[in-house]
Amino acid sequence: MSEMANTDPEGIDGVRMTWNVWPRTKVEASKCVIPLAACISPIRAHPDIPTLPYAPLRCKTCSAALNPFSRVDFTAKIWICPFCYQRNHFPPHYAAISETNLPGELYPQYTTLQYALPADSAAPQSLPSPVFVFVLDTCMIEEEMGYVKSALKRAIGLLPDNALVGFLSYGTQVQVHELGFSDLSKVYVFRGSKEISKEQVLEQLGLGVLGRRPGPVGGGYQPKGVQNGFPNAGVTRFLLPASDCEYTLNTLLDELQSDQWPVPPGNRSSRCTGVALSVAAGLLGACVPGTGARIVALVGGPCTEGPGAIVSKDLSEPVRSHKDLDKDAAPYFKKAIKFYDGLAKQLVSQGHVLDLFASALDQVGVAEMKVAIEKTGGLVVLAESFGHSVFKDSFKRVFEEGEQSLGLCFNGTLEINCSKDIKIQGIIGPCTSLEKKGPAVADTAIGEGNTTAWKMCGLDKSTCLTVFFDLSSSDQSNTPGAVNPQLYLQFLTSFQNPEGQMMLRVTTITRRWIDSTVSSEELVQGFDQETAAVVMARKTSLKMETEESFDATRWLDRGLIRLCSKFGDYRKDDPSSFTLNPCFSLFPQFMFNLRRSQFVQVFNNSPDETAYFRVLLNRENITNAAVMIQPSLISYSFNSLPQPALLDVASIAADRILLLDSYFSIVIFHGMTIAQWRNMGYQNQPEHQAFAQLLQAPHDDTQSIIRDRFPVPRLVVCDQHGSQARFLLAKLNPSATYNNAHEMAAGSDVIFTDDVSLQVFFEHLQRLAVQS
Ligand SMILES: *[C@@H]1O[C@H](CO)[C@@H](O)[C@H](O)[C@H]1NC(C)=O
Ligand SMILES: *[C@@H]1O[C@H](CO)[C@@H](O)[C@H](O)[C@H]1NC(C)=O
Ligand SMILES: *[C@@H]1O[C@H](CO)[C@@H](O)[C@H](O)[C@H]1NC(C)=O
Ligand SMILES: *[C@@H]1O[C@H](CO)[C@@H](O)[C@H](O)[C@H]1NC(C)=O
Ligand SMILES: *[C@@H]1O[C@H](CO)[C@@H](O)[C@H](O)[C@H]1NC(C)=O
Ligand SMILES: [Zn+2]
Repeated sequence: MSEMANTDPEGIDGVRMTWNVWPRTKVEASKCVIPLAACISPIRAHPDIPTLPYAPLRCKTCSAALNPFSRVDFTAKIWICPFCYQRNHFPPHYAAISETNLPGELYPQYTTLQYALPADSAAPQSLPSPVFVFVLDTCMIEEEMGYVKSALKRAIGLLPDNALVGFLSYGTQVQVHELGFSDLSKVYVFRGSKEISKEQVLEQLGLGVLGRRPGPVGGGYQPKGVQNGFPNAGVTRFLLPASDCEYTLNTLLDELQSDQWPVPPGNRSSRCTGVALSVAAGLLGACVPGTGARIVALVGGPCTEGPGAIVSKDLSEPVRSHKDLDKDAAPYFKKAIKFYDGLAKQLVSQGHVLDLFASALDQVGVAEMKVAIEKTGGLVVLAESFGHSVFKDSFKRVFEEGEQSLGLCFNGTLEINCSKDIKIQGIIGPCTSLEKKGPAVADTAIGEGNTTAWKMCGLDKSTCLTVFFDLSSSDQSNTPGAVNPQLYLQFLTSFQNPEGQMMLRVTTITRRWIDSTVSSEELVQGFDQETAAVVMARKTSLKMETEESFDATRWLDRGLIRLCSKFGDYRKDDPSSFTLNPCFSLFPQFMFNLRRSQFVQVFNNSPDETAYFRVLLNRENITNAAVMIQPSLISYSFNSLPQPALLDVASIAADRILLLDSYFSIVIFHGMTIAQWRNMGYQNQPEHQAFAQLLQAPHDDTQSIIRDRFPVPRLVVCDQHGSQARFLLAKLNPSATYNNAHEMAAGSDVIFTDDVSLQVFFEHLQRLAVQS
């Protein structure tokens, strides 16, 4: 951290790395325990990033973009690529460059810049603005239907006039609404019980082979095949500009009823979410392949019908739990995942995104649908009701423009170039491997691997990806790179911005190689503990999902002990002598909280919740992800400014208010005395203005957190000893448990748990780290 400890740790580049100084060899890297990884926010907004109105120069050998680290011979008009040492001639239009007349891409401070790419002349003339296909579940009680309809109407009203809109509703069957007719509503009905092929979808919608050129659907990007706008007439029938169909849609929503299929007592609704999404994907694939489009699914319960079903219709059979998954007793799970994996592939090949807004008291299948959301870069929001602010306010933000806008972009591709001897293992985060092989691809894959290029059908300002690196095992001493003490990484992200313009963001970073066999001091100084904690959380989550009987706690503990053995200062076998350099001193506490977090203790949540937490853990920036692992706690009291408090039960006091931010929820917790005064209405009396202000302060701070956060967190306001207080207590270090309650100060609280406290954890850690 020391190299980057300031208010904006990501700087212009939006990159944070576990290690900011790299060991030279694979063996030394593996001794560092924490992997070499970079968390990148590929299109993060930053006021200092310039946009140049042309395409970058690329190295003729490795195709890296010209950057400030290139050596330039101004007389010979040559630049040397820092990645492959190729000498490249500047083209004629760069003839005027000199030391005092640099193009933007060579300014030393512009390690990140953007190129606005000229429009591809072969691409359609007027690129349509984003396309939204809403897929609405109708197996809901009237009250929920009311909420979701009004949210939808509001969203459609917020869309830009030229955004194309489509609408499907489903229950037992799927209805595709033809919006091109304003007078009579025309509907195409699909059976929900059977898997349906793309061809069948198109045939039924009248978008079949006739009148269509073969190829574009599902065959990847073929903008050249999309002459004269679109390949077929589906656009004028099923996808209409928002301004043209707003009235039709509003009328349609007013008339739309809950699914009429009779549901016998003891049965679940018959809900064919899988077929509905297949039909939506087929429609988009036929109408707008390669154009930025989102399927916005609004789902109120589990799929019970057809492909993607997660549970039977028999209500006495519960939806799978973590225990069931663990025991391989979830008969629908693998089949549903396979279905959604196929849907993900289809959507990625079309360049389309799946967003899921799920609202139900029980599970709806987020765990199964996660693959399609994550691989397409979709959004997900999980709420208890469509009337709840977690859904309502989040949903509104998707469609808002201006400062609050999420800045939704489409058609993203990330490519990574790196210095020789650096290998890319893969990425954890919202993307799909494009399986572009090359010398920089590592043998073992982590997450989306086997590639140096990834697709991000959807991405936005806050999208973050974690790239894992490895070093080649070959001897580096006689390669050209060995004389260069710097390593280089270049991230090239092309994407279509919300205005439809193709952009290319280029970030080139450099870090130092060091020989860590000689001294580890520099290595230590380059450690970023917060990033390391987040990377470990992401890697742990991935392993829990993909490796059978993986013991997360044990794996984390062993890693932490090894790390402390290597980097701690101590005399062998003397625990009391153990100290950690400040560059590492916060890390054990992060691991303590990670072990107790929802990411590791999954049995406290449903598989849907776990999947939801993990999607967000993987896609948010480091600051936000760190709060998910280790919540922040602020204390408000008379006579002092709000201040950070220890995440410990000892921070509770009768005359304090605590504000806990655990990312997914925010808790405002009133100490007993504060709650009593509030119940007596002191805040309404003029002489108790200060109390009124004290009560208000945490609410104001909460609003400013909620304003920047997507999804909108759940807000819990509670009092000490109240039933909701558990939302705070669950996150606090149990320094005081019923085992040692007699030692506690009056007014504080006690946690009923057998969890080890942070202190006991540290004692164990020190003892094990110093063991010879
Ligand atoms: C999508 O991105 C690819 C790769 O960057 C590009 O070739 C293609 O033209 C883009 N498609 C559209 C419709 O902008
Ligand atoms: C009710 O549930 C049973 C058991 O899952 C199922 O066989 C039956 O088809 C369901 N009835 C309806 C009308 O969906
Ligand atoms: C740079 O990236 C391009 C595109 O992924 C790839 O073809 C090339 O081999 C890479 N070069 C290096 C040195 O990594
Ligand atoms: C990577 O490629 C290898 C073979 O080339 C294959 O066995 C492996 O499954 C692939 N891994 C991933 C994550 O795609
Ligand atoms: C992380 O994202 C939040 C928005 O969710 C933003 O306010 C914050 O500035 C970001 N942090 C960094 C370091 O970019
Ligand atoms: Zn090169």
